[in-house]
Amino acid sequence: MDRDGSAVKAIESGDAVNREGINPPLWLLAEVTYRCPLHCVFCYNPVDYAKQHNELSTEEWIRVLREGRAMGAAQLGLSGGEPLLRDDLEEIVAEAHKLGYYVNLITSGIGMTEARIKALKEAGLDHIQLSFQDSTKEMNDFLSSTKTFELKSRVAALIKKYDYPMVLNCVLHKLNIDHVGEILEMAERMEADYVELANSQFYSWAFLNRDQLLPTKEQLVRAEQITDAFREKVKGKMKLFFVMPDYYSERPKKCMNGWGNVFITVQADGTVLPCHVASMLPGIEFPNARDKSMDWIWYDSPAFNKYRGDGWMNDLCKTCDEKENDLSGCRCQAYMLTGDATNADPVCSKSPHHHKLAEAVAESLKPQAQVKPIVFRTDKDSRELMKQREGGDLTEEHRRLFECGSVPSADNSRIGQ
Ligand code: FES
Repeated sequence: MDRDGSAVKAIESGDAVNREGINPPLWLLAEVTYRCPLHCVFCYNPVDYAKQHNELSTEEWIRVLREGRAMGAAQLGLSGGEPLLRDDLEEIVAEAHKLGYYVNLITSGIGMTEARIKALKEAGLDHIQLSFQDSTKEMNDFLSSTKTFELKSRVAALIKKYDYPMVLNCVLHKLNIDHVGEILEMAERMEADYVELANSQFYSWAFLNRDQLLPTKEQLVRAEQITDAFREKVKGKMKLFFVMPDYYSERPKKCMNGWGNVFITVQADGTVLPCHVASMLPGIEFPNARDKSMDWIWYDSPAFNKYRGDGWMNDLCKTCDEKENDLSGCRCQAYMLTGDATNADPVCSKSPHHHKLAEAVAESLKPQAQVKPIVFRTDKDSRELMKQREGGDLTEEHRRLFECGSVPSADNSRIGQ
């Protein structure tokens, strides 16, 4: 659709958008709460998430799910924050199941009990993805700033007991990547069916902590070799995925499979985005599901049409014979690293900004990077960072992580109902 940017022109002139060629969303990610008992240093929630406090109510979530399903969404991810902190989660799952979604719970496991997993099973939950921070109690608890390692192990056992496919997810970075063999052995002991070793991508909190988290090339190569050997060993028993980080690549990822093409994300307060961090992009007003229908948001809103097709691309990308492979990469990464979301994602070696990645790697190797304090994802730090941004105390790159004009919510609860 909109190869020439006609949807954006239609919106600007007040004409109806031609919906032909816009695919319906397939994946709906419901970030049902930003409350979280963990404080992960690589969290992908917006760094200014403490601007929000007013979570959608049960009825509002159910309306969002109905509207999403009516448009064709079939996969539902329930994430957060920690979705188990919503005590209406079972109700939301039951409605989603009735609507015909395949329902995934993306959780740290904190708040999962036998009674809850049983209730979720009865409500129709299909799939649980459990995150671990490391194979060692010390590093797991340090990275999340909590004492949760043993509890997570108990949740893993419950997941098996209730006959869910066991999906373990571990974000890799400089501080834990050398434990990849032990992480895989732990997953094997827990009888995981799938293990996702996702190298940290540098957005949000991970971007703030990039100097401390970016692994070296040698670390990455070694971790991949260990994973490949382990994959051979557990062939037929366990599936392993190793997601490479952008910073050592020459071509960008086709982020979200294209802007407004497959994924729709609804934040805790109902803001609807094409990816989880797009709220930082300047000059775009992202609609809220409280005010607008999901159908209008997906097909007709200026925000969702902004980067569809190639009408918005600069000449470098528009004329590139590889553009269909990656659609110019990630808009958020282009903005974070270059200050302009219409630039090519600098991961691409053809980008004039590609050197920024090598510079970031060099920065992370300096001795001072190892002693820099790490920022944990907490309400307090989110509030503090918004103040620092206002006071001009952050670097230009870090300032880009904030929605224009975001201010800390006066309400500390995040719930606001
Ligand atoms: Fe927002 Fe890639 S993360 S477009």
